[in-house]
Amino acid sequence: MAITLDLDDIQGLVARGYSGLTHARFTVFGVGGPATGPALLAWLLPRITTAGKFSSDTAIHIAFTAVGLRRLGLPERAAAGFSLEFLGGMATPNRSRFLGDTGKSGPDSWAWGAPGGPAVDGLVLLYARNADLLNERHAELMRRLDEMGARDLTVLNTLERLDREPFGFRDGISQPVVEGLPKAVRGQQSVAAGEFVLGYRNGYGQRTDRPLLPRSDDPGRLLPRDRGGSGAADLGRNGTYLVLRQLEQDVEGFWRYIGEATEGSDGSGDPAARAALAAKLVGRWQSGAPLVKAPERDDPALATNNDFGYHHTDPLGLACPLGAHIRRANPRDSLDPQPGTSASLDVNGLHRLIRRGRSYGPGAGNGPRQATGIYFICLAANLSRQFEFVQHTWLNNPTFNGLYDDTDPLTGNRDGGGGTFTAPARPVRRRYRDLPQFVRTRGGAYFFLPGISALRYLAQLPGPVPSGPRTG
Ligand code: HEM
Repeated sequence: MAITLDLDDIQGLVARGYSGLTHARFTVFGVGGPATGPALLAWLLPRITTAGKFSSDTAIHIAFTAVGLRRLGLPERAAAGFSLEFLGGMATPNRSRFLGDTGKSGPDSWAWGAPGGPAVDGLVLLYARNADLLNERHAELMRRLDEMGARDLTVLNTLERLDREPFGFRDGISQPVVEGLPKAVRGQQSVAAGEFVLGYRNGYGQRTDRPLLPRSDDPGRLLPRDRGGSGAADLGRNGTYLVLRQLEQDVEGFWRYIGEATEGSDGSGDPAARAALAAKLVGRWQSGAPLVKAPERDDPALATNNDFGYHHTDPLGLACPLGAHIRRANPRDSLDPQPGTSASLDVNGLHRLIRRGRSYGPGAGNGPRQATGIYFICLAANLSRQFEFVQHTWLNNPTFNGLYDDTDPLTGNRDGGGGTFTAPARPVRRRYRDLPQFVRTRGGAYFFLPGISALRYLAQLPGPVPSGPRTG
């Protein structure tokens, strides 16, 4: 049965990555006094971009950490309905180990988001068609945040969207097709809406856990009622979790390694050999063309091609290595128990992410150090089964897919080993050793991106309740 989403109640980031809004700036802030939350939400509410209404000029979104929601005055019994990962935050010692945020990715060296650091209560995401519009809207936001007593502002400037991540590869090609969203294409295997929007059925046919409040907690009937039939007020409905991670990329180190590893094989300094090895690490050529479709050389005509599987065309990874970034992050039809079938795709469908990241780096006004990387953003209804699973069990797993000592060649942590990259080939596979760590985590937090009704509900809460230690 076709599903209808409440598009006017869902923040628009779920439906769109705003490729036409080439300029973006993200602001992490702390809720100051009791007036901050209600005032900020009252000002923002009429401005929030929804999935139903989109402007080609600007877009704005707001999300909160668990600590932030408590600071708005969300009672503990309501907060308890959020997932444990969200409530605990991204930077607890256990979670850091699980996510591979250890060694040089450890929270002790983060620019923001580490326990004990500046407050991370909320996040405003601002997008605009050009620099002038962005600067104008951002200045207004800063003025408002200041007036409302927000504190600890961290402004994350992004690079104008160029469709290339800093290593030089086309990014933002493959996204899940979500049931009920405008981009769903007939005939394409879509993922259940409940995988990305709370309050709807997920890949198991159930409604993902979310905060449900007794009706008496919502006397003004601001919240939708639980469609599951309990009659509870559904604070989660039309919301989703948002993962934000500042991932710094060692672009020079990446290309240095590729250069050294290809010297003397196909001829030293051969640009074609360099491009081919780099493509093997990613699973796509720099143009974006997938290796399973263009195994020998780049074919820009296939730059945005996303219509492929692995099991039937490339079971051994001769074209796209088994450990390549995209083959780990989305194994498509290669998963057990029945690789190559729709059953395999169904299992894979339980671990999808909507990615909304933007690059940062020189030119984006990030201060004198001018580091480069991605503000990785993904959306998912279940942090543990989606984001954390992909990060831990697929990307950072040295034994992924029968491999031995290979973490994700692009993003993997090499703190405890994992610096091998295996490229299956005939007659013998090629092993690249001692891959340095090319990506380190420099900040991050888990947020909740509420539906519009939930924002209205949050706007009328009484203000901060005494809080525990900051973990968000
Ligand atoms: C700095 C870090 C990263 C870089 C440079 C990077 C780069 C890329 C590139 C170039 C692609 C191919 C283009 C596309 O399909 O859109 C891609 C795809 C993807 N990446 Fe990453 N990525 C990074 C981190 C991550 C992380 C941390 C995750 C998840 C936890 C992730 C998940 C994915 C997924 C799901 C895809 C789509 C795969 C597919 O559907 O075929 N990436 N990434």
